[in-house]
Amino acid sequence: MSQAIFDKAKEILAEIQSAVPATKEDLEQYRIKFIGTKGSVKGLMGEIRNVDNERKREYGQLVNSIKQAAETKHTELLQQFEAQADATVEQIDMTAPGEPLELGARHPVSIVMNRIVEIFQRIGFVVAEEREIEDDWHNFTAMNTPEDHPARDMQDTFYLMNDPARLLRTHTSSVQARVMKNQQPPIRIIAPGRVYRNETISARSHCQFHQVEGLYIDENVSFADMKQTLYYYAREMYGDTRIRLRPSYFPFTEPSAEMDVYWGLKDEVDYRITKGTGWLEILGCGMVDPQVLANCGIDPEKYTGFAWGMGIERQAMLQYRISDIRYLFENDVRFLSQFKSAL
Ligand code: DAH
Repeated sequence: MSQAIFDKAKEILAEIQSAVPATKEDLEQYRIKFIGTKGSVKGLMGEIRNVDNERKREYGQLVNSIKQAAETKHTELLQQFEAQADATVEQIDMTAPGEPLELGARHPVSIVMNRIVEIFQRIGFVVAEEREIEDDWHNFTAMNTPEDHPARDMQDTFYLMNDPARLLRTHTSSVQARVMKNQQPPIRIIAPGRVYRNETISARSHCQFHQVEGLYIDENVSFADMKQTLYYYAREMYGDTRIRLRPSYFPFTEPSAEMDVYWGLKDEVDYRITKGTGWLEILGCGMVDPQVLANCGIDPEKYTGFAWGMGIERQAMLQYRISDIRYLFENDVRFLSQFKSAL
């Protein structure tokens, strides 16, 4: 009976001696297996009850020596692993130059859009952002373009397939309706954002692009106020330039105009992009039609206002001499990383 217990103890000793923990994690497994509170050495100690009385002393000494051996091995290996870890730390060259961090770049559309927003914020306009999926009312009807109105054909619309009452906004003018419905004058907002039109994609037009809308409503707002505000913008954006307003038509403004800035005719690129005139069309604008105010719950007898909408891509293309609008939507890093130095 006792002999079997002695044999078992020797087996465990042999196991301890032959164990080769290679890592700190292995060593922890070793500790748990042999000297942990539920480990085999503890088990051996419990067995002393079953050893014949005359051999108890001998057994006790044996188990103690096994315990010693297991613990010594553990301590030594632990020291060894920790020394190795220290050595690894010391191998790091603290004087080596750091790894370069790749700097991101802003998208040229964002750069130009932020610049526009910032220019208008300086004179008290606040940003209003709204949804891209709109309903027909905010995009068209409120903006004085009812169902059968021919001006609807000016903008080819993407409708949602499962819900024809909803569409991808064709212009940021829909934000005007949203703001006016929720807020009484004075209103002074700019609304940057993405718009969609069902157009054939080419070097000059895309089915998605960005606009910044502006709206100013208060008592006694005049066409002269609009002209001065947009003139301020033109000079902040394009430097010491001139503007001209040409009569135009939009259903939501009366009178309506398109604004050109003088770009110049210094070289042949200037000739090409201005079609030989030196002038660039950058936005549509006008005095908010009283019917639009009424549609959105603002008293047209008391208030007047002006609004404008401008495209971002065209201005970005001009400023960075980008020849094809499609570059702006392909997200080719070789193209995008060229804008790193821009703000
Ligand atoms: N929504 C027009 C467009 O996308 C641009 C526009 C013109 C906006 C005149 C206006 C405006 O607010 O007054 O072509």
